[in-house]
Amino acid sequence: MSRRSTGRVVVVLGASSGIGRATAVTLARRGDTLVLASRSADALADVERECRAAAQGRSAGRSGRRSTGPTGDAARRVSVVPTDVSLRSSVEHLFRVTLERHGRIDAVVHSPAVVAYGTFEQVPAEVYDQVVTTNLLGAANVARLALQTFKDAGGGHLVLVGSLLGKIATPFMSSYVTSKWGLHGLARTLQAEVRYVRGVHVSLVTPGGVDTPIYAQAASYARREGRPPIPVDPPEKLARAIVRVLDHPRRETSVGLANHVWTAGFRFMPAVYDVLVAPAMSRAGLSMTPSPQDHTGNVFAPVPAGEATHGKWGRHWMRGVAVGGAGVAALAAVVAGAALRSSTEDAGRS
Ligand SMILES: NC(=O)c1ccc[n+]([C@@H]2O[C@H](COP(=O)([O-])OP(=O)(O)OC[C@H]3O[C@@H](n4cnc5c(N)ncnc54)[C@H](OP(=O)(O)O)[C@@H]3O)[C@@H](O)[C@H]2O)c1
Repeated sequence: MSRRSTGRVVVVLGASSGIGRATAVTLARRGDTLVLASRSADALADVERECRAAAQGRSAGRSGRRSTGPTGDAARRVSVVPTDVSLRSSVEHLFRVTLERHGRIDAVVHSPAVVAYGTFEQVPAEVYDQVVTTNLLGAANVARLALQTFKDAGGGHLVLVGSLLGKIATPFMSSYVTSKWGLHGLARTLQAEVRYVRGVHVSLVTPGGVDTPIYAQAASYARREGRPPIPVDPPEKLARAIVRVLDHPRRETSVGLANHVWTAGFRFMPAVYDVLVAPAMSRAGLSMTPSPQDHTGNVFAPVPAGEATHGKWGRHWMRGVAVGGAGVAALAAVVAGAALRSSTEDAGRS
């Protein structure tokens, strides 16, 4: 990974946990000026310290000095603004404070999301609505301010973090799937609209399964805790992809070895996909850990104690199921390949 300094001013939303947190630390290491946002001031304070240490490590590395704690420069380059993306006024406050502090915003990385497990009917309406509001309308709140800021300044880059579940559907996560399909639609629409606006870019990054706390933080009405689909990537891999995209805007960047297999199965063999997806989700998308009581997780308010860079689904844990996962992926690839061949033959005949 390139460690050249870009000197950008970057707002990272969802910076207190998982992919957003890993991205913030990676950007700090490169010397960018960061404004970190999410709801929890406590969790943000921890990330602020991590980022200042990363920024300090970079300056110490360049000068050959030993690091003795953040210098004034490293400290000035990282700050926090507690923000709830589901509230337009809160997002407006974030942009206003950032512009007052730094005079400009070069890029915005938008990563926040919440999850609720359970069938459509099990998940209470207010929980469903809040998931969609946070994940979709929250992104719209941020995009509106980001694009206006970029247009006023003559350029800027918005990176939206979508999901494999913005391209396929799965049971037990209807509010999340709905919000992510909406987010992908928003991203593609914005890309078309800024196509001829000089210097303004919108990129979409689409993760598959990633080892973050999002699964343990989720609301659950399914009596079981969620878990990432295999293969599971570390959040640092997503951070590297996001940083690459920041340097080189791209319409869409998919991160996850099995993403294309799942998407092909969903698009080309919908009937087979529908037969397989509920049992697959029940076995691979929900853990064996019982979730004894229905609970709202972090949907309405942050749970700072659960916020971290990593979840509990690291590669060491996944080795046992990786073989089974590879088998499922290979089967899906065969099915998708057969579907592709038959649709090509049909097209050739007609
Ligand atoms: N992990 C995966 O397997 C996976 C797979 C595909 C896509 N993704 C996507 O990747 C992105 C990051 O997910 P992650 O796995 O890193 O999750 P995570 O570890 O749970 O982090 C989510 C972040 O969003 C923030 N957030 C939640 N509600 C918010 C709100 N209303 N306003 C502002 N910030 C809010 C959280 O902080 P507070 O609670 O303090 O606000 C936290 O910083 C999400 O868009 C997710 O959909 C993840």
